[in-house]
Amino acid sequence: MKPVIQLKSVHKAFQSVRAVNGIDLTVFEGQFTAILGPNGAGKTTLVEMIEGIQRPDSGEIRILGLEWKGNEKTLHHAIGLSLQETRFIDRLTVWETLRLFASFYDLGKDRVSEILETVNLQGKTGAYTMNLSGGQRQRLALALALINRPKVLLLDEPTTGLDPNARRDIWSILLDLKHRSNTSLVLTTHYMEEAEQLCDNIMIIDKGLVLREGTMDQLLSEDAAEKIIAFSFETPHPPCGDFDKKCPFPVYWDEKNGKGTILLSNIEGQLPQFLDFLNTRGFRIKNMECRRKTLDDLFTALTGRRLDE
Ligand SMILES: Nc1ncnc2c1ncn2[C@@H]1O[C@H](COP(=O)(O)OP(=O)(O)OP(=O)(O)O)[C@@H](O)[C@H]1O
Ligand SMILES: [Mg+2]
Repeated sequence: MKPVIQLKSVHKAFQSVRAVNGIDLTVFEGQFTAILGPNGAGKTTLVEMIEGIQRPDSGEIRILGLEWKGNEKTLHHAIGLSLQETRFIDRLTVWETLRLFASFYDLGKDRVSEILETVNLQGKTGAYTMNLSGGQRQRLALALALINRPKVLLLDEPTTGLDPNARRDIWSILLDLKHRSNTSLVLTTHYMEEAEQLCDNIMIIDKGLVLREGTMDQLLSEDAAEKIIAFSFETPHPPCGDFDKKCPFPVYWDEKNGKGTILLSNIEGQLPQFLDFLNTRGFRIKNMECRRKTLDDLFTALTGRRLDE
């Protein structure tokens, strides 16, 4: 397999903030990679360095084997990108916006019509960009990123803030691209489901560092026997007193949803112990579920926080 993106020991700091603190990454041809991390993890800084928008303080970045310096023109034609927040020109229509971008690459009307169909915006060709819905804006941003048939596509949070239907529309466009072309994709996201649905390779980052990297199966199979028990009580959450100290297993409390979770490596042996503990302390369970570990749980185990916090 041919590597199309290669990062070696990339660093970038803003005053005292080490936004990206030594990251290695290789993306192969046709591969979709997700960079998953909470707010401030360093995702935008990392992708903007790959895009040539920001320069690393140190480390090496190669796209299609080339460094940015001296190869700007070639690389601008080879990549497509959408930024975390896309600003369009308010008083241009969807058609005019696409025509403008097409002209940067000497592409004509045919390509504009084709890309409108790809992102399913045919019904909006005459609309001013300022009148588009959030989902339509994101699809237009994706159309602009795809217009030059890029070998390398870089999308910074393509679905943040969208409702589940609009999110799925973007996913289906990207999955279609995956099946029909050899494009490599790097996307950043807060949504583990997005990483899981679209990407072959997932990199979990926090505070500028890689915590884990691998396929979904690799990330979750390390402790395949582990199960998550999520529970809530009739009483307020988290329960006051020394619950956490006395509980035989570390508890993570999601205060927003009033839920506690524990991780058990041997459910048959450990669950009775947990139930005994609740029983002797007089806690009344309102809800309890047992499930497989997810990326979100892995993230919590690694950082003590949830991805959406
Ligand atoms: N231009 C800048 N000047 C100073 N600090 C910056 C700058 N850009 C980013 N940072 C800091 O670097 C860290 C990483 O920011 P970055 O935008 O890369 O995070 P992120 O993972 O994209 O977050 P989000 O999910 O909120 O988009 C943050 O602490 C941020 O405040
Ligand atoms: Mg960001």
